[in-house]
Amino acid sequence: MATPSNARLVVLVSGSGTNLQALLDACGDPEYGARVVAVGADRDGIEALARADRAGLPTFVRKLSQFSSREQWDRALADSVAAFDPDLVVLAGFMKLVGPDFLARLEGRVVNTHPALSPSFPGTTGPADALAYGVKVTGATLFVVDSGVDTGPVVAQCVVTVEDDDDVDTLHERIKVAERRMLVDAVGRMAREGFTITDRKVRFG
Ligand code: GAR
Repeated sequence: MATPSNARLVVLVSGSGTNLQALLDACGDPEYGARVVAVGADRDGIEALARADRAGLPTFVRKLSQFSSREQWDRALADSVAAFDPDLVVLAGFMKLVGPDFLARLEGRVVNTHPALSPSFPGTTGPADALAYGVKVTGATLFVVDSGVDTGPVVAQCVVTVEDDDDVDTLHERIKVAERRMLVDAVGRMAREGFTITDRKVRFG
């Protein structure tokens, strides 16, 4: 990725948007090197969109149910994102897989944060799966999105201890505290330094 002085971020969300909020807060510092230019979602009525509204940002919603096929939805989502000319697209709690058209348009510029230590526990239930497996540590992974489910090259990871009395909510909340720090740190470095991918190895600079 090139290193524009102020990288343009489009953030896609589906839920409460605490990761989005962490990015918005970080972008308040001119030294951070990035700014959120738009927020998109696959559903409406979510707190993440309210956060974007409060920040005065343009938002768009592309629901799968509004389209006659997943391919059409994917193209429309790609069009909406591309219209904001992003340097980086951040999937921050976006609970849909993006498809081939989206990736063809934006590949190499899309990162996703996942609440587990890849390659363990891919999919939408990472914290529950880690708890059920009985692992002693889990965490979060930021990766460059490819055509698989949470399989792309790893940008950053953070580790969280699983406590004996954790349930899915307490574990996921603890993961999210570490995840937000990791996301802000890694996206800032991607924006300021750029990055390369060689044999799956992501390097800043
Ligand atoms: C985050 O933990 C993120 O990793 C997860 O949803 C949460 C969103 O929290 N994403 C996935 O599980 C995607 N497979 P937030 O809405 O408060 O940022």
